Amino acid sequence: MLARLIEQRLREAAVSVLPDVDTSTIMVRPCPNPAFGDLQTSALIGIAKARKLNPRQFAQNVAANLNVEDLCAPPEIAGPGFVNFRLKPSAVVSVLERASAGEHLFFDRSQSPRTVIVDFSSPNVAKPMHVGHIRSTILGDCLARVLRLLGHKVITDNHIGDWGTQFGKLIVGWKNHLDRAALERDPGAELERIYKLVNTACESNPDVLESARQELVKLQSGDPENLAIWREMTARSQVQFDAMYARLGIRFDHTLGESFYNPMLAEVVRNLVQRGVARESEGAMVVFFDGDPELEPHPAIILKSDGAANYATTDLATLAYRIQTWNPDEIIYVTDARQQLHFKQIFAIFRRWYPDVAKRVKLEHVWFGSILGPDGKPFKTRSGDTVKLADLLDEAEERALKIVDEKQPDLPESERRQIARIIGIGAVKYADLLPNRQSDYVFDWDKLLALNGNTAPYLQYAYTRIRSIFRKKADAPTQESSSPQAAFEGFTLESDHELNLAKHLLNFGLVLEAVATEYRPNYLCNFLFELAGRFTDFYENCPVLKAPEPVRSCRLALCDLTARVLRQGLEVLGIETTERM
Ligand code: ARG
Repeated sequence: MLARLIEQRLREAAVSVLPDVDTSTIMVRPCPNPAFGDLQTSALIGIAKARKLNPRQFAQNVAANLNVEDLCAPPEIAGPGFVNFRLKPSAVVSVLERASAGEHLFFDRSQSPRTVIVDFSSPNVAKPMHVGHIRSTILGDCLARVLRLLGHKVITDNHIGDWGTQFGKLIVGWKNHLDRAALERDPGAELERIYKLVNTACESNPDVLESARQELVKLQSGDPENLAIWREMTARSQVQFDAMYARLGIRFDHTLGESFYNPMLAEVVRNLVQRGVARESEGAMVVFFDGDPELEPHPAIILKSDGAANYATTDLATLAYRIQTWNPDEIIYVTDARQQLHFKQIFAIFRRWYPDVAKRVKLEHVWFGSILGPDGKPFKTRSGDTVKLADLLDEAEERALKIVDEKQPDLPESERRQIARIIGIGAVKYADLLPNRQSDYVFDWDKLLALNGNTAPYLQYAYTRIRSIFRKKADAPTQESSSPQAAFEGFTLESDHELNLAKHLLNFGLVLEAVATEYRPNYLCNFLFELAGRFTDFYENCPVLKAPEPVRSCRLALCDLTARVLRQGLEVLGIETTERM
């Protein structure tokens, strides 16, 4: 798109000024303040500083060698050496025409696709999914969708917690307290109940604790009865997880839980010791991070003195398996902020374990903050229990139904429910994607379902408004079609309202790329919100169906492109659209 073209020419101009310059840092972004221009680069400042050149002078020299006359007005140098570009309407028009002809939707698919593994959601067996897992599920799914849209090969893997010490207690509970009927009704709740029961008993009764330990040892050594119980618990949890994913419209390429790596753990430990990465310390096998100021105080145990491997060992085995199996360029782990130390340790161990591979595989921990209740404390139900995801989605749909009932009382109930589902689930997802992921956010029903505000329902509504223009067009006496506009040539963009809308559409690709490189869906949320705002401004000031030709067709084509970008943008956020609401 235009930004890429300008970037390319900037790089050439920079080379003509400084032949050995590293141009990879030269990027063009939307200008933060549209008063100064449409696009901007700040990269020349950094380059000049590193070379001890005067940044403003350097920017001026590059601009003097820059030929972008066909695309923009003469670039302006601002402040310490920013270069601002104002696009020429003619250049904007040519991009619109190609989009209207279906050649692109303002983004390019990557010329050098990467293989990216996204490890997300990863709930734990025998525990119902709660709102803490929701952020990983929603963020991870969104990142996978954006990367896929940009042409990368994405492999999603759900690293379910299906192995570990909780199973000792669960098996004691299963053998002594299981209520089969309750298990049939709601496996997650029943497993949670027996777990809590035994867990509390363990606190006061050392005999129960000892029996839980023994059941765990039996499970780990392959006792058929315990294995069968474990398998049933895992399978029943999976059914419940799958129901939740279906509801959220999320699918995984692989679900390789922790237990899958069990048979590999002994070899991983042996190999780490053999390569001198881990060593024995007080009966355990430990990786020490000598000389690393951050990790030195936190050695990582990979085999406890009782011979048990742990979460870290499993993650190392998982990493090795993924690299051997899929040869990825990048692996992204989406979990809450509390696992930062864990992943720092895993990545550091990996660099010592496979130094050559580590150079070409990018590992990234994409972490996020908590969801808080209105009181600013971790989000809980009124009775103080953790909020279950299923209950949360039920409530979202119920609340959305009230809105739909008010706005569309004449639609048949099944349709109103279908729309309420799309609005309710969309609202919950958007509330999760909109804040900077690293900050906590307060869960507020009224705010996230508001029809005016930076919310999913607002964007979904903006989409339906555009679609209704096309319905009206079809209802007109001339009986035109309501289907998307055919390719349009000769955009006029007479008013600033049209030009501002068009220029914003052009930034879609830049925003998608920023989401993919910084793992921040909030950029896309804000882009779509701004798009809906610019559309409103255009629609309030520029008649569409009543305008004379060729302006009418030009404006219809702008409406259509806006609707397509809104829909595509929401889709990669994992949010559905509806034709009316
Ligand atoms: N099951 C873990 C939890 O709920 C998350 C797993 C994340 N992925 C990983 N490869 N460690 O905390």
